[in-house]
Amino acid sequence: MSGVVLEGVAKRFGSVVAVDDMTLEIHDQEFLVLLGPSGCGKSTVLRMIAGLEDPTEGTIRIGARNMTDVEPKDRDVAMVFKSYALYPHMTVERNIEFPLKSRNVPKEERRTLVAAAVSSLGLDDLLGRKPSELSGGQRQRVALARAIVRRPEAYLKDEPHSNLDAKLREQTRAELVELQRRLAATVIYVTHDQVEAMTMGDRIAIMEAGVLQQVDAPQRVYAEPANLFVARFIGNPPMNTITGTLARVGDELVMRTEAGAAPLPADVAAAAQRDGVERAVLGVRPEHLVIGSEGALDAKVTVVESLGHELHVICHLADGEMIIVRQAADVTPPSVGSTVRIAAAAEHLHLFDAETELRVKP
Ligand SMILES: Nc1ncnc2c1ncn2[C@@H]1O[C@H](COP(=O)(O)OP(=O)(O)OP(=O)(O)O)[C@@H](O)[C@H]1O
Ligand SMILES: [Mg+2]
Repeated sequence: MSGVVLEGVAKRFGSVVAVDDMTLEIHDQEFLVLLGPSGCGKSTVLRMIAGLEDPTEGTIRIGARNMTDVEPKDRDVAMVFKSYALYPHMTVERNIEFPLKSRNVPKEERRTLVAAAVSSLGLDDLLGRKPSELSGGQRQRVALARAIVRRPEAYLKDEPHSNLDAKLREQTRAELVELQRRLAATVIYVTHDQVEAMTMGDRIAIMEAGVLQQVDAPQRVYAEPANLFVARFIGNPPMNTITGTLARVGDELVMRTEAGAAPLPADVAAAAQRDGVERAVLGVRPEHLVIGSEGALDAKVTVVESLGHELHVICHLADGEMIIVRQAADVTPPSVGSTVRIAAAAEHLHLFDAETELRVKP
């Protein structure tokens, strides 16, 4: 068992709280993505797992071993950074072999392990080159080979793809996931790129300002964000959010906004009543909105953006809030400046308490 467990882990630098009371279990063979905006504490979490920083509070276990007082070199984790940190004066082969040599692995065994890593990453033709003679993607693969060569308990990766171009990133993403499955490896992967998180992670752990917000499978994070931060952070274009108050109309509970009153599905309405929610934020993803005469909200079209395969119709509600509607490219968009009505599919509405910013859970 090679899971990684953080229990009540905090890290403070003077008065800066980089990580606050974080409890998280990364399962054996799991690909866990740590996602969040710049400065939220992702690298600090990774550095504490690697032993490069000591937690101010809490404990970290790797494969059931308590890591307090264990030196980085004895932790049996491999760290891959965006800078690759390859040794410029060494050939590809020597770079890959280095971690084994520094652990005094016998020569024969080194040769076998290097050959296995080299062939699984397709580096056979590059063994004699120096890092300066490689492309960005090739350097990335050498860094990976160097990490996998000694089969550590866990791989820690801090934005390893951030300096690759878009096409190479996509390819490397797929390769990395495939490699992780093949090695049955435990991976903790830091990124602020939600596309990487959604496509690579078995689960995503989302942080903001040092605090863990939600840990769930990508689809779950998308469909059931735990709070407004997660709702707005995941999804591109982001989820539309409309502030209003809950009001009773007949025996129905509706969300009253300046642009109109939107009906709520019965289970959401019941949950809002149960929780005593008054001011609320309604969330709807751009793909779950439809422009048509049935709509509950009045809006004015300000811009229509074409992305080739889809259109983004950008509207403003009466109170000035911006709403983005995503349409298929073959649907004729309304003209700019026109007044439209917008409807939301009831089963895709998200409701958040405006005070706590937490999801109202049916
Ligand atoms: N050695 C340090 N001394 C003081 N403050 C630090 C130190 N290292 C990190 N911090 C602060 O801790 C917070 C978290 O930093 P961290 O590097 O973990 O963020 P991050 O999520 O990795 O951000 P990015 O996406 O920009 O890499 C930041 O506010 C940062 O300024
Ligand atoms: Mg970082």
